[in-house]
Amino acid sequence: MSGKKKNNAITAVPFYRQSFGGDEYREIKDTIQSGWVTTGKKTKMLEEAIAGYLGSKYTIATNSCTSAMHLLLSASGIKAGDEVVTTPYTFASTSEAILYTGAKPVYVDIDYETLNLTPEATAQKIGRKTRALLPVHIAGFPLDMTSFSKLARSKKVKLFDDAAHAIGTSYKGKKIGSIGDGSAFSFYATKNLTTGEGGMVSTQNKRFAEKIRLLSLHGMSKGAWKRYSAGGSWRYDISELGYKYNMSDLVASLGLAQFKKFDSFQKKRTTAAARYIDNLSNFDAIKLPTVPNIASGSTHAWHLFLMRLRLDRLKIDRDQFIEEIKKYNIGISVHFIPLFYQSYYATRFKLTPKQFPNADLAFQEVITLPLYPDIKRAEIDYVCDAVGQICKKYRR
Ligand SMILES: Cc1ncc(COP(=O)(O)O)c(C=O)c1O
Repeated sequence: MSGKKKNNAITAVPFYRQSFGGDEYREIKDTIQSGWVTTGKKTKMLEEAIAGYLGSKYTIATNSCTSAMHLLLSASGIKAGDEVVTTPYTFASTSEAILYTGAKPVYVDIDYETLNLTPEATAQKIGRKTRALLPVHIAGFPLDMTSFSKLARSKKVKLFDDAAHAIGTSYKGKKIGSIGDGSAFSFYATKNLTTGEGGMVSTQNKRFAEKIRLLSLHGMSKGAWKRYSAGGSWRYDISELGYKYNMSDLVASLGLAQFKKFDSFQKKRTTAAARYIDNLSNFDAIKLPTVPNIASGSTHAWHLFLMRLRLDRLKIDRDQFIEEIKKYNIGISVHFIPLFYQSYYATRFKLTPKQFPNADLAFQEVITLPLYPDIKRAEIDYVCDAVGQICKKYRR
């Protein structure tokens, strides 16, 4: 994927472009040449690097964020008959992880401005059967972790966060992943840090971390991953029903190479988001994403740039706006189609848009614009010019 250029003028902008180069090839080659491609040294190195970055005590690499969330919930004993309070404004993974344990997801409407759950609305849905909260830091905008932590403590439930978008997000000077009972990150292809497919659990509780590690590899006794190496033993015990959720060294190699550049990736994302905000603030039919209070030590990871339409000022709806943007060869997406519009969830949990007016309205307004470390300034300007022209053409 690459933006097409003609006579130096931008004529297309892809939705996503990877930042891979020599570092990635070298690290992966090194792993292949080592002869050890499954979970091992490189996975451990990635876990340690990210734990250090987050200021977290324990990290466990997994094959996805979905599995990382499932591990958090199952390792804390959540099971059929229990409830987990969560958001419908997310990818299905958040609910899948809950459903895999047999527990029931209980949905709360989001805050219309931030698109995140609020502790106040969440508190309304906590009942006798609630065992955990599983909110999402949408797009990389931090949840109010102080109030969520207080709420979880007062209701004696666990606070887990879906941090799929939030590697790089800070909340009041602390990195997301170092607050609460456990966080789950995604290293999916388009995430801020990628291993192609992958994820990670972060927690501050040693026993909980040990249990998660055990469950992540078939419930096999400690060190079983080394059983084929010279220093390992063929003998192992399976003490629990576990899962096949471990990360391989091959995958971790890509993450290690990407991680070396992570700070610079985040700076570039922040600069790109600022340029979008600056350009788009000229158009009164556009609503900009909420930014956190930097002075309080909170930051946005800018995983996604969620532009919103002021539909009362436009003669076209979001879907028509997207058709117009496509004419400029701009790759866009929509985050998210809420779960009450997904037939499986709507049917099984009798969800309707009316139950979630904020999520429904936000969904009607949102368009995700291209945002990645290597997006060029001229590409951002091209996207914003296109948005401005469409706004002008269809202004009410
Ligand atoms: C909010 C959210 N949670 C979880 C996931 C799942 O991540 P993974 O693909 O690593 O399982 C995604 C993926 O896009 C996501 O957007």
